[in-house]
Formats: sequence, C-alpha cells, structure tokens
Amino acid sequence: MTFLATSFLHKQALIDSLYIVAFSLFIFGLSRLTGPRTAVNGNKIAAVGMAIAVVATLLEPGVLDGSAPWLIALGLGLGTAVGIPAALNVKMTQMPQMVALFNGVGGGAVALIAWVEFRHGFQLGPHAGGDWPLRVEIPSLFAAIVGSVSFWGSNIAFGKLQEILPGKPIKLPGQSVINAVLLAICTITAIILCAGTHSQVLFFFGILVAAAVLGNMVVLPIGGADMPVVISLLNAFTGLSAAATGVALNNTALIVAGMIVGASGSILTNLMAKAMNRSVPAIIAGGFGGAVAAPVGAAGQDGGTVRSTSAQDVAIQLSYARLVVIAPGYGMAVAQAQHAVRELERALEAKGVEVKYAIHPVAGRMPGHMNVLLAEADVPYDLLREMDDINPEFSRTDVTLVIGANDVTNPAAKNEPGSPIYGMPILEVDKSKAVIVLKRSMASGFAGIDNPLFYGPKTELLFGDAKASVSAITSEVQAL
Ligand code: TAP
Repeated sequence: MTFLATSFLHKQALIDSLYIVAFSLFIFGLSRLTGPRTAVNGNKIAAVGMAIAVVATLLEPGVLDGSAPWLIALGLGLGTAVGIPAALNVKMTQMPQMVALFNGVGGGAVALIAWVEFRHGFQLGPHAGGDWPLRVEIPSLFAAIVGSVSFWGSNIAFGKLQEILPGKPIKLPGQSVINAVLLAICTITAIILCAGTHSQVLFFFGILVAAAVLGNMVVLPIGGADMPVVISLLNAFTGLSAAATGVALNNTALIVAGMIVGASGSILTNLMAKAMNRSVPAIIAGGFGGAVAAPVGAAGQDGGTVRSTSAQDVAIQLSYARLVVIAPGYGMAVAQAQHAVRELERALEAKGVEVKYAIHPVAGRMPGHMNVLLAEADVPYDLLREMDDINPEFSRTDVTLVIGANDVTNPAAKNEPGSPIYGMPILEVDKSKAVIVLKRSMASGFAGIDNPLFYGPKTELLFGDAKASVSAITSEVQAL
C-alpha cells in the first residue's frame, strides 16, 4: 500500500515536473518570437514544449485506460495527416485564414471538453443529479460559451478570408440588440445550471446553440479586411476558454498555456487596432474595410492630377539616387513581388545606391506581413527600418518607391481631421525628394479612401502589377 502511494506520488511529481518544463519552454519560445531572426527557433522550442505537455498528459492516471490509447492514436494520426500537408502547402497570403481555422479548432475542442465535463458532472459521474462542484462547473460553462463563440466566429472569419462568404459586412437590423439577447440567454442559462435546480441536458445544449449563433452574428457584420484583428481577438478568447478548462480539469499546463494565448492575443489585438487608429469596439461594430472601394478617377478630390511614368524613367531616377527607400504594402504581397524587389535592391546596390526598406506595423493584412515576405526573399534584416526609425530619414531620401502600399502612406492621416484614418501613424514618404508609386489603377486601399499622395507635385505613378513593374525597372537599371 505504502509502495503504491509512494510510486503514485513519484509519478505525480514527474508529471508536474514535465508540465513545468513544458510551459517554461512555451514562455521561452514565445519570447524568441519578438524578432524575425529568432522566431523560427522560438516556434520549434514551443513545439517541443507542447510535445512534452502531451506526454505528461498521457501519463496522467486514467488517461490511457480502456480503448483510450486507440482513440488518442487515431486523433493524433488524423491531426498529423491533415495538419502537416496543410501547413506545408499554405501560401503566405493565406496565413490569416489558416490561423483562423487552427484557432477555431482550439475553441471547438474547448467547448467539447466542457460538454464531456458536463456529462461526467451531471449525468454520469459521482455528482450525477446536479451536485457538480461550482469550482468545476463555472469554468466549464464559461469555456463552453467562449469556446463555442470562438469556434463559430473563426469559421466565419475563415469563410470571409477564403472568399467562400462575401467579404462585405452582413448586418441584420437591430444586430447589437440580437447579440445582447444571445449573450443574456447564454449567461442566464449558465446561472440556472449553476443554481443546481436543473440538470437537463437541454439547458447545456441551449448554451452551446446560443453561443454558436452569437459567434456567427458577431463576425458576419465585420468586413473581410478587418479579419486579422478579429482573428487575433478570437484567438485571445480561445486562450481564455482553454485556461478556464484548465481550472475545471485542475491542469496547470492548460491554465498557463491558455493564459499565454489569452494575454498575447489581447496585446496583439490592441497593438493592431492602435496602429490602425481604431478601437476594438469600432472594429467589432463593423465599419470601414468592409466595402470594396470604388476606383477614383485620375483627378483627385481637390482636382490634382496624376502623373504616370515608365519603367525606364524610374530606373534612371533610382540609379542616380544616393538613398532609395522602398515602402512595401499589401499590393506587394498580392503580386508576390518580394523576390523581384530583392533583385532590384541588389541591382541598385551594385550601382552604389543605398537601399532601405520602410516597414509600417500594419502594412499588408497580418502582423509582420512585410517582414515575413521580405525574409522569404532573403532581404537582410539590417536593411529593414521600423516606421519610427525611417520617418526622420525621408527628408534626406532621394526617391521613395511605394510598392503596392496605399493607406500606410496616406498623408490625410496627418492633415485631414475628417478622414477615417486621421490619427493613424503613417510612413511619411511625402517628405522625400521624389515618390514613385507602383499600383495597377487608381483604386483605393483597405480603408476605401482617396490618397492625396498620388496627386502630389513630387509623385509619379507606374501603373501595372507590382511584380511585372519591379522586374521591368530592374532590367532597365541593369541595362544602364
Ligand atoms: P492598402 O491600403 O490596402 O493598399 C494596397 C494597394 O495595393 C492598393 O491601393 C492596390 O491598388 C495595390 N495593389 C493591389 N494588388 C496589386 C498588385 N498586384 N500590384 C500592384 N499593386 C497592387 O495596403 P497597405 O498600404 O499595406 O495598408 C494596409 C491596410 O490594411 C491598412 O489600412 C491597415 O489598417 C489594414 N489592415 C492591416 C492589418 C495588418 S495587421 N497588417 C490588418 C487588418 C487591416 P490597385 O488595386 O490600384 O493595384
């Protein structure tokens, strides 16, 4: 008996130690994600942490009883068979929807665990008949609601980004009232269950269904282009619900991992919203970014005109410059022009021109979008300059090459108090001696607004697909 108790204690100590190692690796891995140089390594370290957490969970008493090993092996096999090819084949521009799917699966898993806990607590287990301890019941119900919202919301976000659903906001009249009623249904039903007077399965289902409808209703009115912020928010929700499940299951690793995801998701959401000069509630309420902007004419709002240029002229300007700054944006990602841009940078450097890249925190459609693309094209990190570092340098820049960027260079954010993006920090490219903008048409960017930069006296536009334009410029530079 004593031997059994001692070996149980030893096993528990081993499991606890493995969990501590696992979440230490999560935290260390996360800290390495702060820079592109260390990020890949950080991901690997966190993955090792997750593998250790899985092993520790399998060692828990009762986990491998009965047919569980086969079911677990089946789950691991299926997950691996779907996950590895999906992650290997996904394009960089499809990364936000991939994250949405993974996040949704996490939220769904948490809601299912809450359902299993409910069955053990109320229907089958030692507390059958309604005597489920509140310290387990409250976090389980919280996890069921938030996990379900996150699962369904993430699916809608995925559908919008994958263009299975329309990207434009889909709103019902009285949408906010409907959402408030759904939230009230979830909360009141959970309170009734906690009061212990009812243990009907219907109540639990009611919570899951109301939360599912709420998840759909919250995300449908948000424009497709705002989805990265929404995904980050839903990611924070999934983290919080996973932490709640950890409380219910008395699993420290799940609490720590859930809180890390919850906290980092919340910080990222706030940073993105701040960099776009928008509040999270304004994004949730829907707004700009949903509508597909109508192209504006060649004359600006204030009657300014656009000067178009040729690849040959651009090549001459760039080749005789001392400092060229490249400001990439969403269009570079769409055109997959990063490798061509790197070629151009090399061609200019070969002529003794200094080249730097100006990185706006919300250029593109996901955090770090430009950093990831430029790293993929082997652009040296030390050529990349964050917005605050490059802005003072524009006044001494001979030519700024804006490649598929629009909103992040829009001077209206500084000069027009009525503009929807007024207050958003921008790359101050208009301060450079000459600006060349590469885009296909006069269509607006994500915010759907005109850009006075295009009509400025120092600006010229080279119309066409960014990759084709950059390649044409490079050929001309090399021929000079
Ligand atoms: P945008 O303002 O969206 O402008 C992109 C420009 O690229 C468009 O004007 C478009 O003009 C051009 N373009 C598209 N395809 C092209 C192609 N194949 N070749 C050449 N040009 C092409 O992009 P931005 O300046 O990067 O700003 C990002 C916006 O997204 C900001 O408003 C930001 O708030 C928002 N946002 C960012 C994030 C994150 S985390 N990065 C998340 C959500 C929202 P044409 O159609 O005329 O070519």
